[in-house]
Amino acid sequence: MQILVLGSGGREHALVWKLAQSALAAKIYVAPGNGGTALEGVENVPYKVDDIQGLVRFAKEKAIDLVVPGPELPLTLGIVDAMSKAGIACFGPDQYAAQLEGSKAFAKTIMQRASVPTADCLVVSSLEEAHAAIARLGAPLVVKADGLAAGKGVVVCQSLDEAHAAADAMLGQHTFGHAGDRLVIEECLKGEEVSLLCFCDGQKAYALPSAQDHKAAFDHDQGPNTGGMGAYSPAPILSMEAGREVARQTVQPVLDVLASDGHPFVGILYAGLMMTDAGPKVLEYNVRFGDPECQPLLMRLESDLVKVMLDCVEGRMTEDALVFSPKTALGIVVAAEGYPGSYARDLPINGLDSASKLEDVKVFHSGTRCSEQGQILSTGGRILCVTALGSDLLKAQAQAYRAVKQLSIPRSFFRTDIGNKGVKRLSQA
Ligand code: AMP
Ligand code: GLY
Repeated sequence: MQILVLGSGGREHALVWKLAQSALAAKIYVAPGNGGTALEGVENVPYKVDDIQGLVRFAKEKAIDLVVPGPELPLTLGIVDAMSKAGIACFGPDQYAAQLEGSKAFAKTIMQRASVPTADCLVVSSLEEAHAAIARLGAPLVVKADGLAAGKGVVVCQSLDEAHAAADAMLGQHTFGHAGDRLVIEECLKGEEVSLLCFCDGQKAYALPSAQDHKAAFDHDQGPNTGGMGAYSPAPILSMEAGREVARQTVQPVLDVLASDGHPFVGILYAGLMMTDAGPKVLEYNVRFGDPECQPLLMRLESDLVKVMLDCVEGRMTEDALVFSPKTALGIVVAAEGYPGSYARDLPINGLDSASKLEDVKVFHSGTRCSEQGQILSTGGRILCVTALGSDLLKAQAQAYRAVKQLSIPRSFFRTDIGNKGVKRLSQA
């Protein structure tokens, strides 16, 4: 089969690495890819993920059999609809269903229709309504831009003043452009967060093992929110059994509503959950793998990923098609100083060989390129995701940190506490 992966991050490196292990994969292209994907024996092709027409033309020209979008942008722009018009299978939801991530107001409406537990909210589209909603809900509360805002459109506000200011910025000053034309203003939930991803074949949700992301830039969850500074799987807070039950409450009902709307959901539906005292509640849906959750999850996946994706696209997934290693996987993101704000580029990355030589370690590239001289240089805020497997969480954590220490990248940083929440929970058990 000819496969085309879309994206350029650590998630896409992991997807390419796993897809390439399949006997079904004859040739893999990645658009645009990165320095790490180029090392996997696949071909990087210079298309942007939002160039839908260019990608369709390329897919036709190369007789692509399966397209695998990594990020949400091409999905919300309708890549699945465009590829299916051209008769090309695409592992993801159509544009209607992708609104689950593209519009927080849409996601809330679907959750209400599907009776999924989530924070109480009000959707507003004028400053007057916003200020009234804030006064009505009371602090603490959360102000969210409706549309895609590169992970920055959510402000958790401890005071009413902060909430009014956030609403002013989004609706009054258009800090997120049209993404902030509508706001979701919601109750602030308390608890530990966990990610539950499901493979979906249009009708049914098949839960993956749980994972936990680390969104804050610095240790002890301090500093600004990032795309994710590290992740591990499984998260002791949500066992496989419990995860399947939570998927029945929070993902399956959404698939049922979307199918009844004539838009069966294919691909990954990712529920970002808050484990509250009143049970798990959905904070958000993503319509794709998380980055960096994808890296540890795929390190644990033992099934053929090409076959799993085809089964989803063709509506014939089964529970036993999905086999995961009982081991724990943990990934540490190495980022450029300044990230998630402005950061230096072209930092030379050394020590990749010695890190990769360690047992059960895989170094996924997030923002890298290979220079003409063969030197790997950074291009992104997130540079690498160093991922290790271990027989338990402590061993995976120790091995991943051992690998990180082999690297030498000037002006870079990483969190030193990835996995600690899980370690604490296990020691209390
Ligand atoms: P979202 O993009 O909606 O997942 O929001 C990003 C982050 O904001 C989440 O990972 C949470 O840490 C936080 N967050 C979002 N919604 C809420 C909420 N209702 N209560 C508390 N924290 C929230
Ligand atoms: N790591 C969170 C996300 O990919 O949205």
